[in-house]
Amino acid sequence: MRGQFITFEGGEGAGKSTQIKRLADYLRQCGVEVVTTREPGGSPGAEAVRHVLLSGAAEALGPEAEAILFAAARADHVAQTIEPALHDGKWVLCDRFIDSTRVYQGESGVEPAMLDKLEDVAVGRLMPDLTIIVDVPPKLGLARIAGREEDSGGAEQDRFERETLEVHTSRRKRFLDIADREPERCVVIDGSRRQDLVHADIVETVEGRLGPVADSVSAPSGKTAR
Ligand code: TYD
Repeated sequence: MRGQFITFEGGEGAGKSTQIKRLADYLRQCGVEVVTTREPGGSPGAEAVRHVLLSGAAEALGPEAEAILFAAARADHVAQTIEPALHDGKWVLCDRFIDSTRVYQGESGVEPAMLDKLEDVAVGRLMPDLTIIVDVPPKLGLARIAGREEDSGGAEQDRFERETLEVHTSRRKRFLDIADREPERCVVIDGSRRQDLVHADIVETVEGRLGPVADSVSAPSGKTAR
């Protein structure tokens, strides 16, 4: 059986990575084989492009060139990591995917028609089975990032974190608009609550949308799928 493909989206400091880890732990306890991955990156070729993008080295080339690089990284990630894992029956949890390009590069001024074409080239027919948009007010997200940086002795912000509050607010709206337009694929989760409440909501959403996790676990060698 083909695995399920779940993407996590949202602004900076939404808590996606923590929630991905928690969902992966939960699924593994249920007996599901899980691959966690992230964008930009997730395959050796795409990780090389990640550095170029997040350091800001590609910024001078303009938003269209950046969008092309995100798409190139995604095409490699899909072919090398995501498709093979799904084919093997593993579930793939991916930190950011197509919606981040629609939102971030859309906000940078890249034309929707170009973004559509790039999406088509990068992912073809592969759409996430479920997209969880972890939503937090930008002020809270930015405060969380600032706290993280203090903890790590003032690590530098990446190219896309450095933008103004206005830009972060506009990106949030773009994510929520996507959820409105594609309710069959996207669910918005309030990420401003305690981590365990957010996690419980995500588990409920996954089981509600994709069916009970236990049903998707085949039980070879006499193991019970529980
Ligand atoms: P990352 O360090 O992975 O941050 P986060 O924890 O916020 O996911 O940085 C990824 C950055 O790249 C993030 O600011 C969003 C941006 N991005 C795009 O602009 N377009 C894209 O298609 C993707 C995948 C990410």
